[in-house]
Amino acid sequence: MDLYEYQAKDLFAAHGVPVLPGRTVETADDAAAAAAEIGGAVVVKAQVKTGGRGKAGGVKLARTADEAKDKAGAILGMDIKGHTVHRVLVTQASDIEEEYYFSFLLDRSNRTFLAMCSAEGGMEIEQLAVERPDALARIPVDAITGVDRAKAAEIVAAGKIPAPVADQAADVIVKLWETFVAEDATLVEVNPLVRDPQDNVIALDGKVTLDENAGFRHPDHAALVDERTENPLEAKAKAKNLNYVKLDDGQVGIIGNGAGLVMSTLDVVAYAGEKHGGVKPANFLDIGGGASAQVMADGLDVILGDPDVKSVFVNVFGGITACDAVATGIVEALKILGASATKPLVVRLDGNNVLEGRKILDDANHPLVTQVDTMDNAADKAAQLAAGA
Ligand SMILES: Nc1ncnc2c1ncn2[C@@H]1O[C@H](COP(=O)(O)OP(=O)(O)OP(=O)(O)O)[C@@H](O)[C@H]1O
Ligand SMILES: [Mg+2]
Repeated sequence: MDLYEYQAKDLFAAHGVPVLPGRTVETADDAAAAAAEIGGAVVVKAQVKTGGRGKAGGVKLARTADEAKDKAGAILGMDIKGHTVHRVLVTQASDIEEEYYFSFLLDRSNRTFLAMCSAEGGMEIEQLAVERPDALARIPVDAITGVDRAKAAEIVAAGKIPAPVADQAADVIVKLWETFVAEDATLVEVNPLVRDPQDNVIALDGKVTLDENAGFRHPDHAALVDERTENPLEAKAKAKNLNYVKLDDGQVGIIGNGAGLVMSTLDVVAYAGEKHGGVKPANFLDIGGGASAQVMADGLDVILGDPDVKSVFVNVFGGITACDAVATGIVEALKILGASATKPLVVRLDGNNVLEGRKILDDANHPLVTQVDTMDNAADKAAQLAAGA
């Protein structure tokens, strides 16, 4: 789960990372009140879960409360890369000597954590990484030993943070590591981390991604979910306890049992889709081992509710829950869904009690259901149906 800047900075503050005082508001009048309360110059910042807010005109300096009202009025309702601005953060303005870049992230390809640090922070870190990779230090962080003062000093030196603020920067980095670990984050990014004229080091921006798999350890994280911006299909699936992930640009809905089988189903459908005009899988949905009729109905309901989906591929390998139980589940699910089921279903059953399962579907003879015996052929059929729709 990605957090808003203001939520990220609240977590920073809770772990002792220096941030500036601020308030989040939803109206221009409240922005004026917040500016008056903070006193002096403020910065009004669009709260959207996308980068490049500054460039899009979503970050503006205001010297007075009246100016804060005007700036907030202009930013609220703005569209930044498809995200509507519903809230702005009104925060104390800082004088800036220098802007640095810092992040901790989960480095999946190297199976470790990574610290990235640069004395050349600011707006375009992606550009810096491509054009002048030497200016962005990348230091692996061992999950067991973590980041103590010595490790933080190593990171600061590698990032070429100037000597007068090296100690302060190392302190902040140790606290950012504490935040990363204590909150079970997969990303903590500060861009810019600034040096002010008094040589204070302050996090002026914050981006945090929390690991939802660790959510059970953090009951307080539930309050950070913003229903307004959640994908409605993912929200529905979450409410039904389904393992569902919506994918971009896909047309074939996927249901399978077991994460490994579903992952390979995605590959097989993407491969088959190449022959049918580039059709792709539309989602990941693992209904797990004990797939009851209700779970199958819930899964189909979510997938059929996706306007991008043109056909559905149900790929099941019968194990503890045998194919006849799954087939009964599909028949029952189609009964539960009734007229709301409108898209063709390709079903491939194999494994335990496969013949009984296939017979149940044959006997039900539902007009939307096509059975195909092998995974490759079923993927091809589902892709063909999606392309023809
Ligand atoms: N409180 C502040 N005081 C003074 N200047 C600020 C403050 N907050 C931000 N700025 C300036 O605005 C720039 C952009 O702000 P910020 O990093 O928060 O947004 P962004 O980088 O455009 O957004 P994103 O990080 O989403 O890409 C900063 O690099 C900094 O120069
Ligand atoms: Mg930024």
